[in-house]
Amino acid sequence: MDGSSKCSGIFADTDSMETPRKIYLLGMMGSGKSHWSSRLGRKLGLPHFDLDRLIEQQQGMTVREIFEQMGEEAFRKMETETLQHGIPAESFILATGGGTPCFFDNMAFMNASGLTIWLNPSVEELIVRIKKSPGTRPILAEVQTDEALHEKLQQLLEKRKSWYSQAEIVVDDDYMEVADLEALIGNG
Ligand code: S3P
Repeated sequence: MDGSSKCSGIFADTDSMETPRKIYLLGMMGSGKSHWSSRLGRKLGLPHFDLDRLIEQQQGMTVREIFEQMGEEAFRKMETETLQHGIPAESFILATGGGTPCFFDNMAFMNASGLTIWLNPSVEELIVRIKKSPGTRPILAEVQTDEALHEKLQQLLEKRKSWYSQAEIVVDDDYMEVADLEALIGNG
């Protein structure tokens, strides 16, 4: 994060200028959702949560174990239940999972209850970040080479774009500072 590039997020509508009580960070694996939820949470004085970690606490299993032992369908149901009924605060910043917006009515739920922000760095930047924590993402378990990783992420992104792009704010840059995000959500 060198701060050299300017943040090029766009407003989808003017409501996003108001300070929200619930902020949802969306985007692909490696898009920086957890990183930004904790930085923004500290800056705005809001509690921040990571949806995967909440599911793990509630289930007493890692996400990887849930996928392996119970399958993706079971995970998606838990994910929706936790998102819609299991966040332990009224006001918060939430780092969602990469697939969260794309299942059930989660995207509509998030847009109806808070402010949605899609973090959308380049696939090249996603790869750099994903490679820093290898073996933690069951969706990528079969992927062996850099080329295959690039292809898999590109395909997933194409499939998921129609949900992600329903976010109220879109941040396209690989590099940004917390002030850039704050400014985008109206706290700068
Ligand atoms: C997933 C992303 C993961 C986690 C699960 C499925 C996905 O979260 O929810 O492994 O479908 O993209 P992160 O985006 O935090 O890695």
